[in-house]
Amino acid sequence: MTKAVILGTGSCLPERALSNADMERMVETSDEWITSRTGIRNRRIAGPGEQNYQLATKAARRALAVTGIKPEELDLIVVATISSHMIMPSTACFVQAELGAANAFAYDISAACAGFTYGLDLASNYIQNRPEMKILVIGAETLSARINWEDRNTCVLFGDGAGAVIVAGANDGRGVFGSNLRADGKLWNLLCMDSPESCNPDLRQEDWQGAFIRMNGGDIFKHAVRSMEDSVTSLLRQHDLTIDDIDLMIPHQANIRILNNLRERLGIPEERVFVNLSQYGNTSAASIPIALDEAHRQGRMARGDIVLLCTFGGGLTWGSLLLRW
Ligand code: ACO
Repeated sequence: MTKAVILGTGSCLPERALSNADMERMVETSDEWITSRTGIRNRRIAGPGEQNYQLATKAARRALAVTGIKPEELDLIVVATISSHMIMPSTACFVQAELGAANAFAYDISAACAGFTYGLDLASNYIQNRPEMKILVIGAETLSARINWEDRNTCVLFGDGAGAVIVAGANDGRGVFGSNLRADGKLWNLLCMDSPESCNPDLRQEDWQGAFIRMNGGDIFKHAVRSMEDSVTSLLRQHDLTIDDIDLMIPHQANIRILNNLRERLGIPEERVFVNLSQYGNTSAASIPIALDEAHRQGRMARGDIVLLCTFGGGLTWGSLLLRW
């Protein structure tokens, strides 16, 4: 049976790093507080020439270079993002134009930190129907443009970046073989970001507080751990696997305490969980594809390995996905 295989990965991080010492000069915080509560030491912040679509395009070029596939051979470009520099057109359309991927249709999906995993699942489903397709899936964020830099509760957590994968069909046992995607819109207000203020006075929200990320950190923490555990456990059971069958878990990089809690609940040893959070902070939809690219380039996955992705974000949205590398 044809499955969606990742043929190549790429990523792109902005040049400028913002350390915890830099954060100490911006808000009332400390390196000790941030490191002990989150595991984050640095984050990358976009500058000139590093708009969301520009980071996305560079990541895509790097992924294409690994595969030898030309931009005009792409059939579809999906970008998972919640921080497009324009509402219309989509970031995917900008990437399509920048790459010269003239034969690809293109659109964005919005599922916050879970966006890349949703996108990879989407690509996998396209491949089931049209196995000849070549699909570029990107997670790209410039959340630095959506953060209240005076709010210490959120500004220390996030960073910018992009990661990309090229997906195509194969019949050799590799590829995506399962997913468990979930959402609970009733809990939207635990983690949200307002739109720019409405031009239509009748549609203006009375409680508009600026187009910034707002979060109930404690509740998000609890939901993140429980939801990802539940999703992974259900997915493994569905495929008659146990956590011992997983060669590498690549979780959404949000917070080291969330990851350690999840790891302990699932019973997976540290050496089988990929973590690069300390350098980049939480890059939302970009975090898993950046981690996937780094894990790939570091040789952490051998052909045939079972890789588990798991994620959680605003929406609420969450889920997990299994693939044989
Ligand atoms: N520096 C210093 N103090 C801070 C900072 C900061 N940067 N941010 C918050 N505080 C203060 C708060 O104001 C609060 O003070 P108060 O008690 O006087 O009101 C206090 O620290 C809260 O401290 P704790 O309860 O010890 O903080 P906690 O252990 O809950 O950690 C954190 C807070 C890090 C936000 C945690 O709740 C968390 O990580 N939640 C998950 C959030 C997350 O990852 N969101 C990302 C999006 S969702 C996702 O990607 C999974």
